[in-house]
Amino acid sequence: MVIKKFKNTQIYKFFLLYIIKPFYNIIWEYIINFHGKILYFLWFFKKRKFIDLEKNDKKIIYNNEDFIKISQKIYDFCYPNVLEESQREILTDSEITNPTNSGTKKYNNSIFQKLDLNLQKEVYDLAESELLISTAAKYLNVFPILDKLDLYHNIPRDFEDVRGAQLWHKDDFGYKSLDLFIAISDINENNGPLKVLEKLNKYGVFFKSDQENKKKNTMGERGKISNDYFENLKNNKDYKIISLKGKKGTALFIDSFTSYHRGGHCSKEDRLMLRFSYQTPDAVRVKPNRTFLLITFLFFEYFFVLMIFLFFEYFFVLMTFLFFLYFLTMILLSIIYLKSFFQL
Ligand SMILES: [Fe+2]
Repeated sequence: MVIKKFKNTQIYKFFLLYIIKPFYNIIWEYIINFHGKILYFLWFFKKRKFIDLEKNDKKIIYNNEDFIKISQKIYDFCYPNVLEESQREILTDSEITNPTNSGTKKYNNSIFQKLDLNLQKEVYDLAESELLISTAAKYLNVFPILDKLDLYHNIPRDFEDVRGAQLWHKDDFGYKSLDLFIAISDINENNGPLKVLEKLNKYGVFFKSDQENKKKNTMGERGKISNDYFENLKNNKDYKIISLKGKKGTALFIDSFTSYHRGGHCSKEDRLMLRFSYQTPDAVRVKPNRTFLLITFLFFEYFFVLMIFLFFEYFFVLMTFLFFLYFLTMILLSIIYLKSFFQL
């Protein structure tokens, strides 16, 4: 209770914004993502084009030729056979893996693998294009990895039972990420547009709305906020909502770790949406592929960076640490020496 009250004070918010967040940001960019930071500098050694998010963690994009072209191609490929097959799969899936989006509650399907291989390659080429990589790198301030690339098919099912990602939430899987959602079908209010709060969440992942559901703690229900909570505050400019609505190819960049969003709540029509998710290796859903050699390398890399960081930021701390290390080594050597001496 006392902590909750303290968290609402201006002092706490000031502390969070000007001390905790900038400090964590330095650690995240230069230590946790040291590897990505070096690649970032190397990548931007050459001047590269990127889409500027204008100091926000989301931006809607209209009339991008590449997005329009790929969305038309995917739509033509999927309509109608692939979509009919996917709809059958959704309706007949009986497996329960996620209480809000599986079994009889399932309302969407990943169908990227159903695309023809050449088309899949084209989608990958777009996701890994210089423009998109540079856009993600500029936002993250480190070189990204493409963690997720998927095509989602959402259908109207039990509209009244609002569940899972249809409720307001943040994807709590890390510190920073950048997703690009591209509309593959035309999107309007009938096929569950992705909605997001327009204003930058300046506290990033350190801010959580007190409306978040803390009682239910199962997958798909954790931390969700009712679907009309922010809609009811729409007259307050801090809670203005933008929606990914429009023709095929309309797109939205969004940091889903920091921005509250919801979507896929189709009332009458299906929705097709392409998603590229640019993340960093520390995000929890990024699958590690770490060999012993790589872990050893990373350990030395982080240690080296930590030394440099401490040297520049805390010369005194570094000296104390080195002295401590020296002292410890001397004690160890003395013990070894004395041990061997007495054995003799
Ligand atoms: Fe989400």
